Amino acid sequence: MSEIDLTPIRPAIENYIPMGRAGLLPALHAAQKIYGWLPEDVASEIAKALRVPLADVHGVIEFYSMFYNEPVGRRIIRVCTDQACALKGGDGLLNHLCKHHDVEPGQATEDMSLTIESSPCLGLCEQAPVALVDDDAETNISPDFNEYELGLPRSIVYGSMRKLTANCGEGTTSLEKYGEYAGLRKARTLSRVQVIEEVKNSGLIGRGGAAFPTGIKGEGAERAVGNQKYVVCNADESEPGTFKDRVLLTDDPHQVIEGMCITAYAVGASKGYIYIRGEYPYIVPILEDALREAREAGYLGEHFDIEIRVGAGAYICGEETALFESIEGKRGFPRVKPPFPVTHGLFGEPTVINNVETLCNLPLIIKEGADGYRKIGTEKSPGPKLFCVSGDVTLPGLYEVEFGMTLRELLEMAGGVAGGKSLKAVLLGGAAGVFATSAHLDIKLTFEDLRAAGLSLGSGVVMVFDETRDMRDSLNRLGHFFAHESCGKCYPCQMGTQRQMEILSRVASGKTLPEDILRLQDVGWTMTDASLCGLGQTAGSAVLSAIKLWPELFDAKTAEAK
Ligand SMILES: Cc1cc2nc3c(=O)[nH]c(=O)nc-3n(C[C@H](O)[C@H](O)[C@H](O)COP(=O)(O)O)c2cc1C
Ligand code: SF4
Repeated sequence: MSEIDLTPIRPAIENYIPMGRAGLLPALHAAQKIYGWLPEDVASEIAKALRVPLADVHGVIEFYSMFYNEPVGRRIIRVCTDQACALKGGDGLLNHLCKHHDVEPGQATEDMSLTIESSPCLGLCEQAPVALVDDDAETNISPDFNEYELGLPRSIVYGSMRKLTANCGEGTTSLEKYGEYAGLRKARTLSRVQVIEEVKNSGLIGRGGAAFPTGIKGEGAERAVGNQKYVVCNADESEPGTFKDRVLLTDDPHQVIEGMCITAYAVGASKGYIYIRGEYPYIVPILEDALREAREAGYLGEHFDIEIRVGAGAYICGEETALFESIEGKRGFPRVKPPFPVTHGLFGEPTVINNVETLCNLPLIIKEGADGYRKIGTEKSPGPKLFCVSGDVTLPGLYEVEFGMTLRELLEMAGGVAGGKSLKAVLLGGAAGVFATSAHLDIKLTFEDLRAAGLSLGSGVVMVFDETRDMRDSLNRLGHFFAHESCGKCYPCQMGTQRQMEILSRVASGKTLPEDILRLQDVGWTMTDASLCGLGQTAGSAVLSAIKLWPELFDAKTAEAK
């Protein structure tokens, strides 16, 4: 007989039962809230209630790192040990905590009061080092963990303009402060095709990393035929070094919701989802409140409504088709494309999926008109842009600037390299991006200029490394990150990320073998050319850029001398 009391589970998952398989992630979250982990009997109960094969439920639990199929401590501390936090002592913090509580990372204390884990990027890079303590963010933690800022993270916003961040920096904006959805009201005076034309004419390019023109996506979905159309807001924000969407969602949720409403009107969608990463639990109540306010004001409900879906710790779920799979209650495996989401997206229906920042541009475009919007930025990269500046810089934070500013100007605005040191490198675009050096300082931060220079804008990451930093350590972290996050669906990435990690570990520990540089290039180019999705296609890009910039790092003799 089961020792686990299953009585609380039914009422907790009741709302998700009619959704069938699509209710699996919320049901697992609800169950884990009750039991702290997901015991076999609980998984079995959920499988029966949702009519999902038990093996599939186990497959989903195992896929997501924030679901536990073994007991964990009643409190979980996730310490970020990714790049930005590592620069500010994240590893030391993890070690200190583990030593203090006499556990290894990933282990629970004997009394099961606490589990301490190492975490991938928590999206709080400008306030490093950080940890997630259950549902609270702890930022700017002192090395002994005695001083930290509790609760909802602050938003640190700078820049040369405040178009997208007008309401950011002073806490969450209520609907009363946000005012009416003026962009949506104006959009409704236009035909659907006119709204799409306006967005196309604005030249808006998606800010999620893939740099796809937003108007063209909308046009495809508007023309597509389906039983139901969807608008999905990609709030997965798992690219290491990225935190712009966190600030927009926390401080100005109505701007995001208005952007979704405009898209829904333009393409004829009746249902929307905001898919938010599991590492942002503190934003969920903010979004729930904002959705309630929007419903009460009549913006949502009758023609279009939005549901929140919370991820559970998987970088790959930011990839658009993996995200659909996740909402549908499956493991986050990317789909083969084509067909593309605009015709066959969520539940196989026409879907527009956009990044949070992209959506925030829509009210602005409709209010100002395409011509007004184009007054800022460059011809090919119009509009404002948010950059996530972190690492060894005097003033880390979120910077809103006009497209066209140079890297030098942005770094000067951020007070330059911290402590008066010289610049070693800037990681542009996140883990999937590339390294730049002082030779690139006068390149304009636009899609076209960065592409021409062989660099990448990605999701707007600008992570600074000073002259003292050991780039082998940084590369080693990248290697581990991709090996951990590869979903394993296709061999070039599944094996390539493993081999890349092994070689980079050797390089970091001073045991570089002759020809490791050739091995890394071989693996990197193969992943780029042959992987199924963007994760594998970019898993080698930062490493390949490092090989070009600093070949001596991979020299067996240099490593021996280290
Ligand atoms: C591995 C991987 C992770 C991604 N993560 C995100 C993410 O966290 N947020 C996001 O908006 N786009 C992410 N993307 C890009 C999405 O697939 C998609 O292009 C984007 O949501 C489209 O929105 P946009 O057109 O507004 O840029 C990711 C792509 C890949 C390959
Ligand atoms: S490239 Fe990597 S993450 Fe993408 S499908 Fe293949 S194995 Fe999965």
